[in-house]
Amino acid sequence: MIIGQHFIEVTYLIATALFILSLKWLSSPVTARRGVWAGEIGMALAIIGTLFYKGIVDYKWIGIALVLGVIIGVPLGNVAMTAVPQRTALSHAFGALCVTLVGTAEFYLRTPDVPKFTMSVLSLEVILGSLTFTGSLMAAGKLQEVLPQRPITYKGQNFVNLGMLAVAIVIAVLLVLDPSRTALYPAMIVISLLFGVMMIIPIGGADMPTVISLLNSYAGLSAAAMGFVLESKLLIVAGALDGASGFILSVNMSKAMNRSFSNVLFGAFGQVQAAAATAQEARPVRSASAEEAAAILSAANRVVIVPGYGMAVAQAQHRVRELYDALTKRGVDVKFGIHPVAGRMPGHMNVLLAEADIPYDKLLDMDEANPDFPQTDVALIIGANDVTNPAARSDVSSPIYGMPILDVDKARTVMVIKRSMNPGFAGIDNPLYYLDNTLMLFGDAKAFVGNIVKELSGASAAHG
Ligand code: TAP
Repeated sequence: MIIGQHFIEVTYLIATALFILSLKWLSSPVTARRGVWAGEIGMALAIIGTLFYKGIVDYKWIGIALVLGVIIGVPLGNVAMTAVPQRTALSHAFGALCVTLVGTAEFYLRTPDVPKFTMSVLSLEVILGSLTFTGSLMAAGKLQEVLPQRPITYKGQNFVNLGMLAVAIVIAVLLVLDPSRTALYPAMIVISLLFGVMMIIPIGGADMPTVISLLNSYAGLSAAAMGFVLESKLLIVAGALDGASGFILSVNMSKAMNRSFSNVLFGAFGQVQAAAATAQEARPVRSASAEEAAAILSAANRVVIVPGYGMAVAQAQHRVRELYDALTKRGVDVKFGIHPVAGRMPGHMNVLLAEADIPYDKLLDMDEANPDFPQTDVALIIGANDVTNPAARSDVSSPIYGMPILDVDKARTVMVIKRSMNPGFAGIDNPLYYLDNTLMLFGDAKAFVGNIVKELSGASAAHG
């Protein structure tokens, strides 16, 4: 028995260290793969250690739960890269549901002898768990477009929402004072579940990635609270890591969009976008063919490629690698300018370019890339839109005014690969496309980049 207890403690200690190292390693593309392995091994150790817990009397239900988890988890692990945000939201929903169920079981097992501290953290656990469960389901639904993306608002909404949360907290306080009032417990859960739905309704689809990382933070906090209820140091540490990293990520994403946290949560951003999109006007643009683009690129000394969501949709990263190789072979200096919120999730572009084996030292963050644009011959934008929109710098009426952008318009020539004049996620027109130094390359990113590569290799074959 003692050996079993020691084994659990050692596996938990190693798992805790691996979780901390995992987060550290995930912060750089060079060590990110190691970070994923560390997290996975840490989680496997945590599960194995728990299976030796002396309180387990029957493994049947645990076995059934493990099989169910694998059946749900395997397909979730194989979704397309573009669906990862909603997949992540679903993971948070499952985690939060689990926390709520464990908290509920603990409440009914322990009541009426629940010490005040335990009842306080248990209430925090199930309130956060319930609102994260429904909130994450709503976020996944909006991202998957099975629910309307536009914000749904009404007068006094914030008041109603905060009122619901306040009622849930008052019930929690009553339960802390007297846990034998068991009839109040389901009311607290139902109100928190409802609050999760109401909290997400007024937030537009474009803000869902930020909301997801905030919900990640809530899920982490609820797991940490569960750690106090179950007296598990591992859960407290893992939950705190999750809670803190999710919160920092949300703050960083809000900063990269120049939005305050309260604006993301209460600003109903999508409504402004819809209005702005309808105000789009038809103005002439200059377009070019793959052959012309190849000629301009091969005559350049310095090229900065700016990828965006369209590269992810088209899965063009391997063609982009071929383009990088073809240009580098000709002596062109090729770098990549990465905006922190390009794509639909943090690090989206880095992951795709790493998959295509683009050297990490060629990827420049926005702050590194921007001073280079005035000395750049060609800024080649592949499926990016909002993150290059100069209106964010100059047009105070623009919904994205103040958002830091990649200053691609300062390059000698700007070339933009996209399929149409349609707006990006923010739903607004991009004045970049009408500038004298901009050429539109209309087409699917994968096909168009492939054609440029063909032109470049055809030209070198003709040369040879
Ligand atoms: P977007 O502004 O969404 O623009 C993507 C562009 O790609 C579209 O204009 C689209 O134009 C084009 N496109 C789509 N499919 C394509 C294809 N198959 N081939 C070629 N082009 C294609 O993307 P972005 O510049 O990466 O900006 C990201 C947006 O998401 C920002 O508004 C950002 O605030 C928001 N957001 C991001 C995050 C994170 S963490 N990344 C979080 C919250 C919000 P066509 O339809 O004409 O092809």
